[in-house]
Amino acid sequence: MAQANTPLNPFFLSPKIPDKYFCDRREETRTLSRLVTNGSNVLLMSPRRMGKSGLIHHLFELPEIKKAYHTFFIDIYETSSLEEFVQKLGQEIVGKLSRRGMGPLLAFLRSLVSLRGVFSLDPSSGMPSFSVGIGEITRPEATLDEIFSYLEKADKRCIVAIDEFQKVADYEQKNVEAVLRSRIQLLRNTTFIFSGSERSVLGQMFGSASRPFYQSTSSLSLGPIDKDVYADFAVSLFADAGKTLEREAVLDLYDLVQGYTYYLQRSMNAAYALLPDGKPCDRTFLFERVDEILTAQTDSYQDILSALTPNQRALLAAIALEGVASNITSTEFIRRHGLGPISSVQTAARALMKRQFLTRDPQKRYCLDDKFLELWLARPFGITPKIRLGQNRR
Ligand SMILES: Nc1ncnc2c1ncn2[C@@H]1O[C@H](COP(=O)(O)OP(=O)(O)OP(=O)(O)O)[C@@H](O)[C@H]1O
Ligand SMILES: [Mg+2]
Repeated sequence: MAQANTPLNPFFLSPKIPDKYFCDRREETRTLSRLVTNGSNVLLMSPRRMGKSGLIHHLFELPEIKKAYHTFFIDIYETSSLEEFVQKLGQEIVGKLSRRGMGPLLAFLRSLVSLRGVFSLDPSSGMPSFSVGIGEITRPEATLDEIFSYLEKADKRCIVAIDEFQKVADYEQKNVEAVLRSRIQLLRNTTFIFSGSERSVLGQMFGSASRPFYQSTSSLSLGPIDKDVYADFAVSLFADAGKTLEREAVLDLYDLVQGYTYYLQRSMNAAYALLPDGKPCDRTFLFERVDEILTAQTDSYQDILSALTPNQRALLAAIALEGVASNITSTEFIRRHGLGPISSVQTAARALMKRQFLTRDPQKRYCLDDKFLELWLARPFGITPKIRLGQNRR
């Protein structure tokens, strides 16, 4: 636990960030707020670690949203069935209601007729708990109806954010999209934010005419925070603590990690924590911290890579070396990196995208999702952060 006198590191590494330490996203917050308050369901997409979850939490903390809405946030990355989905949603609602006391909570639990008899009182708090096992959710569609109808009757409007929504497409039960869509379209008091990073899967779910969610939402794409805005933010957080950060150093870091928010924050967090008193944080100091982070990741990266096939590893390293790679099935690319036949490159690319190692942009350019893995893979080839930066500038 942090001691009261431990200085706070203002570069937060989790998506729930106090306002003061939340960088920018003014425009995106305004747009998202406008859409949901107008009752429009929203699809929020970005590459991994760009700031989707952070933006949703930030929205939920706005005074005007807190006042007028009940907000719920579930991350369904770990779920693999409608039963687990329903369990997550139930737990989130119970968690929120328990803060409002026994009355609202009991009213919710009583409304879940399909689960009658499976609730227990938590012996320590005396409060009912939602420790409903998956096996006890025997009629998930009925329970879902009961949950939604409870939200429809709530004393305020409701916003439900479902993070990592693309997971639904992986459920074994194939009609879950239809089950959700048919219910969601009838709701009047409840608005949804669906968010996720798998552009290819979400693009199909929301953009293909044969799928239930086809054109059912407004879309919002989240890009990197503006370079100058992030640099100003970082410099001022250092200045607030009487520390000096050279602006040029942040601008270089931004290029190095292609503006991906998490990697900026992780590097700045380390530099802030380790900067000796009285010394300015310059590019050398900052890049040394990046290098330390890469070294510290070695064991976990080796584990991750050992679970890939040789073809997948080779392709990942090839793309890491280039930073952003186009035409990965061209003879030129294959020759340059000594890869196997076209078909094996295609198979490896598909597998790496499915497992979220690689992202493909609409121009069919590929890059690694994990920017530190990208830099780490390039290191043995003598590509240090410094050299990579030179390449980016080319
Ligand atoms: N506006 C912001 N200001 C400062 N830091 C931010 C901001 N947005 C995000 N971050 C940082 O970036 C990290 C990644 O953000 P977040 O988890 O919201 O991304 P995400 O797009 O949901 O990622 P994933 O696809 O992996 O779920 C956060 O943990 C936080 O450290
Ligand atoms: Mg997220």
